[in-house]
Amino acid sequence: MKIFSRRISLVFVVFFIAYCSFAQNKSVRGLTLIDQGWHFSFGHPYDTDKDFGHGEAYFSYLSKTGNGDGPAAAAFDDRAWRLLDLPHDWAVEQSFSEKASYSHGFKEAGKDYPDKNIGWYRKKISIPKTDLGRIISIKFDGVFRNSKVWFNGHFLGTEESGYDSFEYDVTAYVNYGGENTIAVRVDASMEEGWFYEGAGIYRHVYLQKTNPLHVATNGTFVTSDIKEGFATVTAEVSIHNQGTDKGAFELVQTVFDPSGKQVALVTDKGVAPGFYKTASYTSALKINAPLLWDIENPNLYRLLTQIKQQGKVIDTYETTFGIRSIRFDAEQGFFLNGKHIKLQGTNNHQDHAGVGTAMPDELQYFRIRKLKEMGSNAYRCSHHPPTPELLEACDRLGMLVIDETRLMGINDLHLGNVKRMIARDRNHPSIFCWSVGNEEWKIEGNSTGELITNTMQGFAKSMDSTRPVTVGISSGFKSGISSVVEIMGYNYMGNGDIDAHRNQFKQQPGMGTEEGSTFATRGIYFTDDAKHYVSAYDRKPRPSFYSIEEGWKFYATRPYLAGMFIWTGFDYRGEPTPYGWPSVTSYFGMMDVCGFPKDNVYYLKSWWGKQPVLHLLPHWNWAGKEGKEIDVWVYSNCDEVELFLNRKSLGKKKMEQYGHLEWKVTYNPGTLEAIGYKAGKKVLAEIQQTTAAPDKIKLTAHKQVFDKPNDIAVITVEVTDKKGLHVPIAGDEINFTIKGGGKIIGVGNGDPTSLEKDKFIDAIAQLSIYNFQEQALTEAELPKQLGLYPENNWKEAFKERDYKKLAPAYVYRGQFDWAAKSKDEVVTFFYQKIGVDAVVFVNGNKVAATKEDSQKYVISPAVLKQGSNIITIMATPIHKVNDWDVINSDPGSIQVISPSEPWKRKLFNGYAQLIVQTDNSGSTVTLSASGKGLQSSTISVGTLSPKLQ
Ligand code: GAL
Repeated sequence: MKIFSRRISLVFVVFFIAYCSFAQNKSVRGLTLIDQGWHFSFGHPYDTDKDFGHGEAYFSYLSKTGNGDGPAAAAFDDRAWRLLDLPHDWAVEQSFSEKASYSHGFKEAGKDYPDKNIGWYRKKISIPKTDLGRIISIKFDGVFRNSKVWFNGHFLGTEESGYDSFEYDVTAYVNYGGENTIAVRVDASMEEGWFYEGAGIYRHVYLQKTNPLHVATNGTFVTSDIKEGFATVTAEVSIHNQGTDKGAFELVQTVFDPSGKQVALVTDKGVAPGFYKTASYTSALKINAPLLWDIENPNLYRLLTQIKQQGKVIDTYETTFGIRSIRFDAEQGFFLNGKHIKLQGTNNHQDHAGVGTAMPDELQYFRIRKLKEMGSNAYRCSHHPPTPELLEACDRLGMLVIDETRLMGINDLHLGNVKRMIARDRNHPSIFCWSVGNEEWKIEGNSTGELITNTMQGFAKSMDSTRPVTVGISSGFKSGISSVVEIMGYNYMGNGDIDAHRNQFKQQPGMGTEEGSTFATRGIYFTDDAKHYVSAYDRKPRPSFYSIEEGWKFYATRPYLAGMFIWTGFDYRGEPTPYGWPSVTSYFGMMDVCGFPKDNVYYLKSWWGKQPVLHLLPHWNWAGKEGKEIDVWVYSNCDEVELFLNRKSLGKKKMEQYGHLEWKVTYNPGTLEAIGYKAGKKVLAEIQQTTAAPDKIKLTAHKQVFDKPNDIAVITVEVTDKKGLHVPIAGDEINFTIKGGGKIIGVGNGDPTSLEKDKFIDAIAQLSIYNFQEQALTEAELPKQLGLYPENNWKEAFKERDYKKLAPAYVYRGQFDWAAKSKDEVVTFFYQKIGVDAVVFVNGNKVAATKEDSQKYVISPAVLKQGSNIITIMATPIHKVNDWDVINSDPGSIQVISPSEPWKRKLFNGYAQLIVQTDNSGSTVTLSASGKGLQSSTISVGTLSPKLQ
């Protein structure tokens, strides 16, 4: 208990310090996360009505500056749109359909779904007058994909990549001292990958403010040279001037060690570069007795770069880095800090159960920890640059990384992507290799591939000479790319003769960039093609492919191979090989999409990890198979293992290095037990026990306390029998309710064939008002009730209105169609001013404006009718000041929110997972789970401080 509270206070102190230093630096450089409170709506790729009239202006945003129209215009009314927080992936929110994309996990979004492939995001931010003179920019960590951004109606640019980070300078467009509008149109109709990629602003967005003279974006590059007893850290800094000041400045570079203690400081003098020019400075800092970054002790240093003028700090920039050395050797493989390390890697895509690609930061840590627990020490970002938070997690937890660009080529597009990847990521100590391509079948074996690789490789080296370059190659390992690439990336032993290639290119180091493309369903031990379930025993997946064990035996026993990267660490959406619909996730993972381990994890733990391991498969719940033979496997690094069924020995077997053990056991319910021996001594025991029926729900959170803003807790849901034993075959449906300061953001269970919802979110529909008509009233005083207005006097509203001869007031009426889906629907009229004053009626009943917004009317279901409804508005007219003034004639729209059904999920082979996120209010979150015939369960996750902000 004591330890617990001390831990909490320590974390709180760290928080507090971080908060204070941010507050102090506020006047210097500000970087604020602006993920909260975006308005979102689907648009349309070609139906401009559905795209809110965007792109229709006579002078478009491409003809005249500031002419963003439709939602791109600052004045656009988005109140009826959905309100959400980033990161957001709209694809994961959709249902599944056989007609949808195989690669994207059959979600009804993207190329064949025009109603679901354009997403508009809008957010208002206020920027104070005091910011005038600073450089203001909006930074996007990544948007999928082809995004266009406007700021106060000014078109800022298009970013095609779904994976690169980008930034726009908005200094000149800001409304200082007032409200500003960011509008983003995201077009996810094209796929970049052949795997699930999500859709929308699925990574963070920041508002940045700097002095005109400042450290450029990604403007530091820190390298280190380790000597006996000390290291020389070289900090290259690019200083950019977006102002006219040509004065002298001081560049102060301070290094803090992992405990936060200052360990080096140098000051240089410089003169501000010219307007829009950049100047580079290089400082050398000596660090005595450096604490090196490695996999076990990921020590991180911090470089604080400050620009000072007249003794005053005008910019600060922080760079986290590690001091470490890397080296590939063609004979002996890879070395970290001079120590040989066999790369025990996995490939991964970036989605997780429930949330798709909209990953909360803590989920990156959750996943990297899971991989480390398996004994993995390396991660390949297949096949694109990741979000910066993934790299931060790898830096902090000690995981080596291959960072990969998306497309091969030598033009601005391709080299530009490489440039952005390296500039953004080169200070991460975890990255040990750049990859400039993967399985480019058209060019792999020919001279085009050779020429492209030479250019990309040379270009990468021009930006970072400290790391080597690789390409993952699959079609034979003979000529083309494989003859010139610095580190040969073998994609699968089945694709060529690795030893033969190595004998031909003896000077070229190599590693298995992809290996062991195996299939397994977690918790399944009999393949059932009809159900799309593949048994989890590690067997050869296809004749020319290799099991995980075959793969590792090959790589582990060849010193010249630096290691291998399994395809993949986690299952991901899309590529449901060997099946198709209705399987929606891959089967390749060592863990499922939730991170629940398949049995292969224990094979790897045995030979990749350092701890003694003993794992027995399958489970022992085989009702109906009594008297039949069951394959029993043991994964272990013990010397010998003895197996017992109901206490009777079935024999002791010797474990071969990198192997596993097998028995054929006649099924009888009871206890299957394995005992592991090392040097003749019993070291481990593992039991599989036949359980009784599910009795009680059990909830476990991966953390007990939310300790940072937007933090999450990953909750494991399972059921136990009366004795408290986990029931491995349970498939019960569990219902969830949540109370307190948080929400559920996703649910999953690792079943590749589950078409259940990932998210339970309220549906929002916008009803348009049509057939909008008017009649002139004779008095300016607006009546409190509806009068009788002659039917034949109605005419189209605002048509041919003579603004010189306006009536004192008008009555307008229009229709909207409401098809109630539930009695709990909330119907709101978002009125847009068509008159100076207004009185609103629905089906003859007066409706009052809300207190918080005088142009918002919540319509009680009691006054609504199924089908067509009449809205009547009485208003005094708006007069034109100038002839050319455009008066609004759109009365607004009606929003219908249909509350979602409560969160629920079926267990799959005993497990489901729920992700709960704090609302930063500081209140504890309590999750309750119930299911038919089961005892319910409740779990709470607390918070550290009253408010997480
Ligand atoms: C590889 C490819 C991966 C994945 C894998 C599936 O060829 O590089 O991205 O598609 O096959 O087996």
